[in-house]
Amino acid sequence: MEKRIEELRAAASRALDAASTLDDVENARVRYLGKNGEITQLMKGLKDLPAEEKPKAGQLFNRLKNEVDAAIKERKATLESSQLDSALAADAFDVTEPGVRVGFGSVHPIEQTRRRLEDIFTSMGFMVLDGPEIESDYYNFEALNIPAHHPARDMQDTFWLEDGDLLRTHTSPVQIRAMETYRPPIRAIAPGRVFRYEVTDASHENTFHQLEGLVIDRDISVANLIFAMKTLLREIFERDVEIRLRPGYFPFVEPGFELDLSCLICDGGGCKVCKQSGWVELLPCGMVHPNVLRSGKIDPEEYSGFAFGLGLTRLVMMRYGIDDIRQFLAGDLRFLRQFA
Ligand code: PHE
Repeated sequence: MEKRIEELRAAASRALDAASTLDDVENARVRYLGKNGEITQLMKGLKDLPAEEKPKAGQLFNRLKNEVDAAIKERKATLESSQLDSALAADAFDVTEPGVRVGFGSVHPIEQTRRRLEDIFTSMGFMVLDGPEIESDYYNFEALNIPAHHPARDMQDTFWLEDGDLLRTHTSPVQIRAMETYRPPIRAIAPGRVFRYEVTDASHENTFHQLEGLVIDRDISVANLIFAMKTLLREIFERDVEIRLRPGYFPFVEPGFELDLSCLICDGGGCKVCKQSGWVELLPCGMVHPNVLRSGKIDPEEYSGFAFGLGLTRLVMMRYGIDDIRQFLAGDLRFLRQFA
């Protein structure tokens, strides 16, 4: 019996030394320790031994089984780690591979035009201001000479918040904030998003961009206003454009004007953007109303000023010939990529 055990120990050890793959190890395991394996079979013969030999033989068997078991595990571990080494060596990283192309975003056309306008105005000595999109009734209406119940409130359909605040309907509240913060002379622009509770179509959106302008100094007149507006339009369109000035009513300016631009999409012929008129309202403007100066703690006897509320979104439409305002917020990459 002991001899047989020694033979098996030697045979199993040889088989494992010779195993060069994990399959070979598994075959050796089955051959010696499997259900019908040689060691297992021999152990089954234990019950036939005379009683006095059983304890000793049992001990020997157990030792053999444990040894072979340990040897199998060790061989397996060795083979696994060398398999990993060769897999890593085979997969070596090729730094000359061209790699995966990364998609680049691009600057939104409204943002591009806003930056261009900021350059134009800062070069004329204007500062660029910012204001909150959630405004109080005071800044959006009251301080701009639009008291409660004034019919002019209906000119701008408003998204009201439950607490009485609102989404600003125009960038004009920044006029008041500018006057509260700075003393004349003031030259400022304030680009930003505005919101109107409106039905959307090719030329109306509930969210769009304006660029407010404010100049306050001694002896500012309509002539200064017209000059500034013409300079602005020539710079942004990089050519002389046709404009017309009409009287326009806004409670915060007096006199007030509508500056229209000859439609650049249809060249004045009539299209859906200009509602077939050949003209687009682009630049409402006027001389700052004395009540507004007073709201800003500026003495209208000493100072005067002009203000404008450029329709930034509409200007971008004219600049690029876009005939549907809804494109800007649609998030269609095919549209946006054209401005990359
Ligand atoms: N805030 C006005 C609007 O959005 C535009 C405007 C601004 C008019 C400044 C005159 C002066 O309708």
